[in-house]
Amino acid sequence: FRILRGKDYDDMSRIAANVISAQVTLMPECVLGLATGSSPIGTYSQLIRWHEDGLIDFSGVTSVNLDEYVGLDGSDDQSYRYFMNRHLFDHVNINPKNTYVPNGKAFDTKKECERYDQMIHNLGGIDLQLLGLGNNGHIGFNEPADSFAKGTHQVNLTESTIKANSRFFDKTEDVPTQALTMGIGNILQAGKILIVVNGEGKADIVKKAFFGPITPQVPASILQLHKNVTLVGDEAALSLI
Ligand code: F6R
Repeated sequence: FRILRGKDYDDMSRIAANVISAQVTLMPECVLGLATGSSPIGTYSQLIRWHEDGLIDFSGVTSVNLDEYVGLDGSDDQSYRYFMNRHLFDHVNINPKNTYVPNGKAFDTKKECERYDQMIHNLGGIDLQLLGLGNNGHIGFNEPADSFAKGTHQVNLTESTIKANSRFFDKTEDVPTQALTMGIGNILQAGKILIVVNGEGKADIVKKAFFGPITPQVPASILQLHKNVTLVGDEAALSLI
C-alpha cells in the first residue's frame, strides 16, 4: 500500500482531496464510498473549495456512505445523513438522489441492510472508498470481533466507540448504541481504498492495523490484503510507521 504524509491536518486533507479529485476527473460517473467522523471533514472542505473554483464536478457522481446510527432520522443533526449534507452534499453539485446513506429509521433493519447491499451491487460496486480509522481499529462500524462481517449489518457499538462519539453529543446517554454499517466484504470489494488518519491518538492503531497481524480484533488490519490502499495521514498519526 501507499503511504502519503501530510505535514498537518490541512495538508493531509489536501492530499486526500487530490486523490478523490483524480478519481472523479478520470471517471466522472464513479461511485464514491464516503465516511463521516472528524478525519474527513477537512477533505470535504477542500473538495468544496475546488468545486466553488470550478475545478471539480460532482454532477455524475453517486455516493454511498458507510454507516448510520439506528434510530436517528436524516433530519436529526446527529445523524450521518445530516453530517454528509452539511459537510459536503449541500455545497457541491452532486444530485441528492444519487447520495445513499443507510436508513437508521427503517422499521425492519435486516431488510434495510439487504436493500443496501443490493443497491451497492446494482450500482456496480464502489470505485473509491474513503475511510477513517477508529481508535480501536474499526472501519465503518465494524468493531473488533471474532470474525469479519461480509455485508451490511446491524452492530452494537462498543463502549470505547460510544465514548469516542460522545464528544459530538450533549450527553453520553444520547449517543446511539447501535448502527447499520457496511461489512468488511463491502469495503474490500471497492476498487480503491483511501484511508485518512490524523492526530497522535491514532499513531498506535495505525501501526497495529497496517503492520500488525491481520485479525478481526483489529478490523482495519484486513486492508493489508487489499490491492489498492492509500493511507493519508498527518505527521502525528504516522509517527510510528
Ligand atoms: C464514520 C465511520 C467511522 C469513523 C471512525 C473514525 O462513517 O465509519 O469508522 O471513520 O470512527 O472517526 P474520526 O474520524 O472521528 O476519528
